[in-house]
Amino acid sequence: MLENLSEQPADALLALIKLYAADTSSDKIDLGVGVYRDADGGTPVFAAIKAAEKRLVETQDSKSYLGPEGDMGFVNGLVPYIFGDMALAGRLDGVQTPGGTGAVRLACDLLMASGTKKIWMGTPSWPNHAQIFKAINMEVGTFEHIDIATQTLNFEGVMNAIAQASSGDALLLHGCCHNPTGADYSAEQWQQIADAIAAKGVFPLLDLAYHGLGHGFEEDSIGVRTIIKTVPEALLAYSCDKNFGMYRERVGALYVIAPNAGSLPKIMSNVYALARANWSMPPDHGGAAVRIILEDAGLTQMWLDEVGSMRARMRRVRDTLASHGKVGAVDFAAIAGQNGLFGMLPLTKEQIMMLRSEHSIYMAGSGRINIAGLTRHNIEKFAEAVRTVQK
Ligand code: LMR
Repeated sequence: MLENLSEQPADALLALIKLYAADTSSDKIDLGVGVYRDADGGTPVFAAIKAAEKRLVETQDSKSYLGPEGDMGFVNGLVPYIFGDMALAGRLDGVQTPGGTGAVRLACDLLMASGTKKIWMGTPSWPNHAQIFKAINMEVGTFEHIDIATQTLNFEGVMNAIAQASSGDALLLHGCCHNPTGADYSAEQWQQIADAIAAKGVFPLLDLAYHGLGHGFEEDSIGVRTIIKTVPEALLAYSCDKNFGMYRERVGALYVIAPNAGSLPKIMSNVYALARANWSMPPDHGGAAVRIILEDAGLTQMWLDEVGSMRARMRRVRDTLASHGKVGAVDFAAIAGQNGLFGMLPLTKEQIMMLRSEHSIYMAGSGRINIAGLTRHNIEKFAEAVRTVQK
């Protein structure tokens, strides 16, 4: 039976990791998979995480099961950063998940169990979004998030999609630092989206995977808080991959905002049952390390400072890149007004392949670049190569 399976392509983003590693060129540039890189091109473990892990090893006295909800100290510790002082009076609860991917998957399973059939998604999006929806046979409606040729946000796109959507459809929204385009909605646009989905009865699935890497934790929460203030119910998938540097540890959470406090226990019972059937319980280590940071004022400050310097470095890279202005079809100036790890360049497939084969520059086939892969040592080479391949 297994021979009947058809060949599946390797995940294009993850395949870049191996392609880059196999390139022996001394001035190769990795702008592929979304990991933060420091000014030396490294992705070190956060100092706050190292300290928390040390404490965890010294103090943990059991690895016995916790339950499908995972480490609730971790889940609750993130709440002030995401929701601020919002008064959600018994309507908010959450569970730990294996990464943000686990949270998105669990959210979609819950939506399907609630009767949602269709989800709307701006394109381009993180490629795994579509793969998750496909895996559980969720119908997908798409709209244009960004006009790639002009590198500008298409706000009409999402508003038209909401107008077309049926009540009970879901809408996927990137909370901040849009992946792959870096193009986020303004505070006013978030309010317009919130009002439109509330009027239409469209259900928001908020994906917050780059929290703190745009303008700061408060600023990067404006969109999700605006939606949650305006609609009766929502789901929020959270990832600690980037803002705690926990990538391979798989640290995430799914938050449920219920329409009323009375329905929350029933909804959560479904979340626990689905989590149990998916992965039983989330892996503990990473979430426990994050909890230890959030419980300790000194470690929290250390972590906030580390995220602050990542954010500042990415702003500097964006500004330097923007100073190159228009290079053929690419307008680097657009990068300055975008947020987070990514930007999207209007290059053809052939040009992207030439960057790879002739310049050892690795970026996603979509034209996405990881801003953090650029340093003062390679940024000029990159801009020049983008010019060369367009000649
Ligand atoms: C990315 O978009 O490159 C990251 O989020 C890594 C991944 O899982 O795709």
